[in-house]
Amino acid sequence: MLEIRDLAVSYGAVEAVRGVNLRAEPGAITAIIGANGAGKSSLLRAISGLAPVRGGAVLLEGRDITRVPASRRAALGIAQAMEGRRIFRDLSVEENLQLAWRFGRKSAPWSRAIAQVYANFPILSEKRRGPAGLLSGGQQQMVIVSAATICNPSYLLLDEPSLGLAPIIVREIYAFITESCREHGTTVLLAEQMATLALKVSTYGYVLRQGRVIREGASRELVETGLVASLSAAYL
Ligand SMILES: Nc1ncnc2c1ncn2[C@@H]1O[C@H](COP(=O)(O)OP(=O)(O)OP(=O)(O)O)[C@@H](O)[C@H]1O
Ligand SMILES: [Mg+2]
Repeated sequence: MLEIRDLAVSYGAVEAVRGVNLRAEPGAITAIIGANGAGKSSLLRAISGLAPVRGGAVLLEGRDITRVPASRRAALGIAQAMEGRRIFRDLSVEENLQLAWRFGRKSAPWSRAIAQVYANFPILSEKRRGPAGLLSGGQQQMVIVSAATICNPSYLLLDEPSLGLAPIIVREIYAFITESCREHGTTVLLAEQMATLALKVSTYGYVLRQGRVIREGASRELVETGLVASLSAAYL
């Protein structure tokens, strides 16, 4: 169980997260929805140890990990695919994946792990010797989600995996995330601006606005009660 209690994150005078309570259901996808600047990335970065936490706590299986250094959180089974396509552009596709595998908590030998990645995304096998920086945006996102999942993490943090991608690639990435997590029982926190998409794949959702949770509930209920329509109206 991954739980956040009364979390506050601020950058100087900017209060990005203001007293958020949240639970990520074990083995399920939990969505965090909100517009630009709502605090989604700050919330996820607090869980990975990269945001300035001013108050509250991050609990992993009941243990307070708020002050555990970011570098030690991978060993706890937390993996992340963060915003902005972090990739080593000059390294090859396979070298990128190998680095992720080397720093993660191993659950399978390298040969099996990489074979699985190429089975999921055959295009990456074709491109494996070339520099990752020359991949298309969608292919880079495939590398990023593969790097995040190559060690079968217990907890997976995904920050806007759909950002800037064509709908067909978004579907492919989301199908992979959903299947991979179901197969391995991964607990996922998914931040998205695309509410419809996030609520379709998740079981529970939280809506953030200006650093606060303004709504939460079963994803199906949020859809049925017209949340998506009201959000679009509020944001546009
Ligand atoms: N490193 C930083 N320094 C100063 N302010 C920051 C920093 N990172 C985020 N902020 C501010 O914190 C608030 C929340 O930002 P955050 O990136 O968490 O939002 P978000 O929901 O992820 O938005 P987006 O959908 O645009 O990625 C914003 O007002 C933002 O300007
Ligand atoms: Mg963000």
